[in-house]
Amino acid sequence: MIDTFERKIDYLRISVTDRCNLRCRYCMPAEGVPAVDHSQILSLEEVFRIARVAVALGVGKIRLTGGEPLVRKGLIPLIEKLCHLPQQPELTLTTNGLLLANQAQELKKAGLQRVNISLDTLHAERFEQMTRRPGLEKVLDGIRAAETAGLKPIKLNVVPIRGVNADEICDFARLTCDHDWQVRFIEFMPLSSGLDYAPESRFPAAEILAEVQKLGQLTPLERKGPAGPARLYKIQGAMGVVGVIPAVSDHFCAECNRLRLTADGQLRPCLFSDHEIDVRTALRRGCSDEELALLLRIGVKEKPQQHHINDENAVKPSLRRMQGIGG
Ligand code: 5AD
Ligand code: SF4
Repeated sequence: MIDTFERKIDYLRISVTDRCNLRCRYCMPAEGVPAVDHSQILSLEEVFRIARVAVALGVGKIRLTGGEPLVRKGLIPLIEKLCHLPQQPELTLTTNGLLLANQAQELKKAGLQRVNISLDTLHAERFEQMTRRPGLEKVLDGIRAAETAGLKPIKLNVVPIRGVNADEICDFARLTCDHDWQVRFIEFMPLSSGLDYAPESRFPAAEILAEVQKLGQLTPLERKGPAGPARLYKIQGAMGVVGVIPAVSDHFCAECNRLRLTADGQLRPCLFSDHEIDVRTALRRGCSDEELALLLRIGVKEKPQQHHINDENAVKPSLRRMQGIGG
């Protein structure tokens, strides 16, 4: 599928649940967000149907997200079914890692290729402060389990926040020296109002790089093919790779290849825009695969050229938080 701006759209991110077992301060207010009524959440059969049609249209890569995808029951059979599609799409998952230790083997066996694990601090107390829940040890166990299970390469997602965890950038980057991991720093996106962190707490990509450079010379890596939004570097002599995702300061809209499906069945052409296409209603009205394909094509057609969240008087998308979109 090619959009209005000549971009090839072949990546679908599917949120399989809006629920989460953490309450990260950059994502949710303390009281959480009202859970979407169960009846509005797509069944995994419905998710599979949309994914099957998308793959037939040329989507070659699917990422399962949330909320926290591993809290969703029935995920393993969904993964198996997706992997058995004749086109064999690449299948990955983004998790906070809390439930990963118990599920890593099963996920791998079902056909999942890799996991991205979100982790913002290596200190137990700070973990609890940032996510409003204890659990650092469980996440670390999860990372080890994923590696043992062969869900490789391990990718860690870190969101540095000024005055909170930005002092750990070097500690995280150093993990790549003796692990074959990709440690990716994501700029904090002030996506919704009412978060605990002010927009000014964003630690920009340039400053992140300056921090990492303290560890040694950084070599930028060639980007092969649609490399995704991460700019990749290797610290001299390191086994793994450091990535920086300048989500706000240097948008990568020109290379955007993705569509998003929310847990309640809305197709979202752009992360930063509240514009959505209601696939659930069509599905439940009994639409055909052809009609589903048409909705997906409309989603592609309606992808904006770029987001405008840096504009001074930008309207922040407010309908959903990250947990409702899946990052
Ligand atoms: N800014 C940047 N990253 C965020 N994430 C969640 N909320 C935000 C935000 N406001 C990250 C999570 C996870 C990924 C899916 O998105 O840490 O790694
Ligand atoms: Fe944290 Fe992700 Fe859960 Fe949001 S959805 S609270 S970022 S773990």
